[in-house]
This record gives sequence, structure tokens and C-alpha cells, in this order.
Amino acid sequence: MGERRYAVACLPGDGIGPEVIAEARGAADAAAARFGFGLDWTDYDLGADRYLRTGEVLPETVLKELGEVDAILLGAVGRPDVAPGVLERGLLLRLRFELDLYVNLRPVKLYPGVTSVLAGRGPRDVDLEVVRENTEGPYVGAGGVAHQGGPAEVATETSLNTRFGVERCVRFAAARARQRAGRLTLVHKTNVLVHSGDLWWRVGRQVAEEVGVELDYCHVDAACLHLVNDPGRFDVIVTDNLFGDILTDLGAAIAGGLGTAASANLNPAGRHNGSGDSTGASGPSLFEPVHGSAPDIAGSGRANPVAAVLSAGLMLDHLAEHEAAAALEQAVIAVLPGAARYSTKEIGEQVAVAVALQASA
Ligand code: IPM
Ligand code: MN
Repeated sequence: MGERRYAVACLPGDGIGPEVIAEARGAADAAAARFGFGLDWTDYDLGADRYLRTGEVLPETVLKELGEVDAILLGAVGRPDVAPGVLERGLLLRLRFELDLYVNLRPVKLYPGVTSVLAGRGPRDVDLEVVRENTEGPYVGAGGVAHQGGPAEVATETSLNTRFGVERCVRFAAARARQRAGRLTLVHKTNVLVHSGDLWWRVGRQVAEEVGVELDYCHVDAACLHLVNDPGRFDVIVTDNLFGDILTDLGAAIAGGLGTAASANLNPAGRHNGSGDSTGASGPSLFEPVHGSAPDIAGSGRANPVAAVLSAGLMLDHLAEHEAAAALEQAVIAVLPGAARYSTKEIGEQVAVAVALQASA
């Protein structure tokens, strides 16, 4: 049997993206070396610079190439000198949609030695996962404007929810809950959004019953309150695209900040789904920190690379390199206490060293 090798497309992007991705890559390479596989990285310069230089956001040829790799690791996109939405919609959301990355998996996990803004809460209190639907809702761009600039101007932004889209997302979340404490919480706003809310609720009930997990329901406003007051009540949250976007920033806040918040944009039916089942294989999944490009601290060495490192860990897990993924997380756990004193590069190096040290343990 030959060595296991994975083709990984690397999109460092803008702002702190390249800084944190360099460290994530070093840490992932260290884990790969330890566990006997190889990562073949190909860099793509997509982002603000290329857009401002050439007008290109995501050329078709590049999209096609990205569709053929094993995984994609992305830093962050967006910069103040590029109009809002150009890169976010044109690159990030386009990749999510085109590659059908219908699950956005975002662990909300407070690591030992990291201080939460929640007084008196520790790692045992904050350990949940948000499964955010990632290809529908108000993100699809359905809508438009009429009479722009005039007094009769109207703008619509329609939230699309298909049974197909809701069901595949809820199924993923239910399966995830089964592997954890078996508690699934649907978060929506069924008391106001009666059409989409009812669809989510009916699908949620049906899937939970089928899969055999306990289903709880929570309105999104109450979910915000509970996340702060009693985060331990949640195991796996499943929710729509926009609610999930908002909830996961709150989730990051209670778990010690955006510096450690990782995410996986998954096509669970894709070629590497961790189950060894590659039938119906489609494309790669994409891994990125929850944080943005943070132009205010770019170049200062103050960005925490841990969110990117943990995202690379989610990537290894998805590639079914479970031991390597676990080792990477353990290395992060070893380094995190006191990490605030160190630079982006120092933290990255410490994680890489910790991965290698575990090897001989
Ligand atoms: C995120 C980001 C994106 C989103 C933006 C940059 C389009 O906030 O990944 O959470 O809204 O999904
Ligand atoms: Mn967000």
C-alpha cells in the first residue's frame, strides 16, 4: 500500500488569513509527518489583492480545480478597500454553494486554561456543536431592489428553505448528536417565521424520531439567553444559515473568543466523509476559522492561529485521519494556557512541536 497523500488547496486570503494559515499548515504537516501521511498543498491567491489587480474573484478554471482536490483550507477574506459582499458572496459563499457544502459544523468548546467571558464557567460547561445549514436561508441571494434611491425604494431578501435542504442538514446533526450525548436542539423562530419554522420543526421531529435522538426546541432569541446563562443544556444545535451565523459568534464569545473558534464547511457525501464510503463521491469540503480577516491587527503578530489550526484538525478528521486530528487538538490543549503571551508564529511553532513530542510519548 502506498503512502496516504491528500491534495489540499490553500486559500490564505486577506488580512490575518495568511498569518494564521501558515501556522495551521505547519501544525497539520507536523501531524501528517507523525502519522505517516502527506499533505500536498497548492496555494491560490484568491482574495482582495487579486480582485483589485485583475477584477477576478473566483475564475471558473480555479473553481474547477478546487472541485478536484481532497480538501480546502481557507484563512479569511475581505478588506475595507473592497466593497462589502464582493469577496464574501463572490468567493466564500460561492464556494459553499458550488461545492454544495451544506453543513457548517462549528464546535463551541471552551478549552482548559482559556478564560470564558462567562464567570465561573469551565470546559465542562461549554462543549457543544452548532450544525448550521450552509446553502439556503437568506444567504441564497434571492431578492432584489426596485426604484433604487427613490422614496418608493424596496429591497427584498427571501429566505429559501427546501425540505431537501433542511432534511439533509438535520440528518447530519442528528447523526452527530448520536455520537455525542444524544441531545439535538432545533433552534428557529417558529412563533414568527411560521412557514419556514414549521418546515424545520416537522422535519426535525421526523428525523429525530427516525434516528433515535432526543429533540428539544428553542426559539433563537431564547437560545441566545440560554447560551449565556446555561450553555451546558446544549449538546448539538441545528439551525438555519443566518441564525447559525449569529449564534456561532455568540458561541465563540462564550468559548473564549474568536481566537479558538473553528469551522468545517462540509459536503458529507463528498469523497472524504470519514466513513470510508466514497460512493457517490462528489467534491471536497472546506475548512476555515470562524473569524474574519481582522485588518486592524493584520501584520501585528497578534492574531491567534489556534482557530485556523483547529480548522485544519477538522480537515484531518474529515480526511479520516482521526488520530492525527486528535493529536492536533491535544497539542492545542497543551499550548493554549498562557498562549496569550505569544505571537502568532510562536503559538504555531509550539503546537507543531507539541504534536511531534506526543509522537515519542
Ligand atoms: C461566517 C462569516 C460569513 C457568513 C461571511 C463572511 C459571508 O460571517 O463564516 O460566519 O456570514 O457566513
Ligand atoms: Mn459569521
